[in-house]
Amino acid sequence: MKTRRHFLKNASFAFLGFNQLTYNKPSLDFNFDLEDFAKVKNDETLFKLVRKSLLVPEDMVYLNTGSLGPSSRVIVDKVSAAMRELESNPVGNNWGSLGNKMEAVRQKVADFIGAEEEEIILTRNTTEGINLAGSCLQLKQGDEILTTNHEHGGGENGLEYLVKNKGAVIKKIEMPLPVQSPEQIIQLVRDEISSRTKVLMLSHVSTITGMRMPFKEIAAITRPRNILLIADGAQAPGQIQVNVKDLGVDLYACSGHKWILGPKETGFLYIRKEVQNQIQPVFSQGSYKSYSAASGTRNVATIIGLGETLDWQQTIGTEKIETRCLSLAQYCAKQLKEMEGFKIISPSDPSMATGMLSILLDQAENKVIYEKMKEQNIIIKLLPKYNAFRFSFHMFNTKADVDKMVSALKLLL
Ligand SMILES: Cc1ncc(COP(=O)(O)O)c(C=O)c1O
Repeated sequence: MKTRRHFLKNASFAFLGFNQLTYNKPSLDFNFDLEDFAKVKNDETLFKLVRKSLLVPEDMVYLNTGSLGPSSRVIVDKVSAAMRELESNPVGNNWGSLGNKMEAVRQKVADFIGAEEEEIILTRNTTEGINLAGSCLQLKQGDEILTTNHEHGGGENGLEYLVKNKGAVIKKIEMPLPVQSPEQIIQLVRDEISSRTKVLMLSHVSTITGMRMPFKEIAAITRPRNILLIADGAQAPGQIQVNVKDLGVDLYACSGHKWILGPKETGFLYIRKEVQNQIQPVFSQGSYKSYSAASGTRNVATIIGLGETLDWQQTIGTEKIETRCLSLAQYCAKQLKEMEGFKIISPSDPSMATGMLSILLDQAENKVIYEKMKEQNIIIKLLPKYNAFRFSFHMFNTKADVDKMVSALKLLL
């Protein structure tokens, strides 16, 4: 009996030991750190390195960063190192070394989007950012909120709360498919604004078509009328360069886990200094710091990981990333234009195009094609409201990914 118990004990230790060994193993054969990316001078080699640093299997064509972006294993390792440090002395580190690193992330976010630290609240995602802002807007019965029929539910929710609780009215601009020019959308906004409009909420990059909203020109319409301009930025930072001051928006909400390629459940909300007296989310009562009595204990490891990811993107070069995303989407669009059976609904005007492309199918059923693509390890986004798909091209994607997806689509159609 003693022998058997002894054997079981040893076996379970061996098992635990094995797990421990596996867990401790350095990330596969990848030994690069953040600063090593800066040393690569050739862009193709750099983007190959980024691809190699992902945990997405090599044979998977991942074209859905718009839903969730894959983090580099360099970031995953940084997050797990922070988690381990935290667990070695939870209170001491949470309100000590790690807490300080977490608080420094607000400045990193501010630098990334051209804001000031005092204008940034760290959130869990875009939805939370818009909900925080939405739930404290001072609206009266009959005040109008203008938006479009292309917004994501994450953004719309905060507005619907205002309809239910304050009697506000939502008006939606019907977006053309595709939008032809910035002037077209600017005119639509101008036509729909009335003396009752108090809020305008638009996506910076559309979740449906990838269209980049001409915010600067729109802010020139809203600012003199005291209309609060809210940007849903879920699909923008990380693929296009963003400067909130240039855009002229009052609020800007974003997630860290899409194009920024950061840890999941990270995000931020920018509130322009001049409107902070009107918008006071309970979450930021007293302070915009990451940890406050109002916001409570946070996940320091993932927030630190967000900061590391922003540093990493800047090391690579945000302009370089934007050019890469756009050029892959254009390479894809060129091939799609020669095919039949669908219509491209993303704008072709270069000032509105991004690294996202969507197509509306004529007859074939999107769900069927989506499943067949998945069987071939090609991950795309199904747009359930339309018989459509969306393809997201990030810096880690390649022309070979585009070719593989296009050939599969050709055969399936
Ligand atoms: C435009 C837009 N807003 C908001 C969201 C919601 O993002 P999250 O779930 O990170 O809050 C998405 C997600 O795809 C989106 O595309």
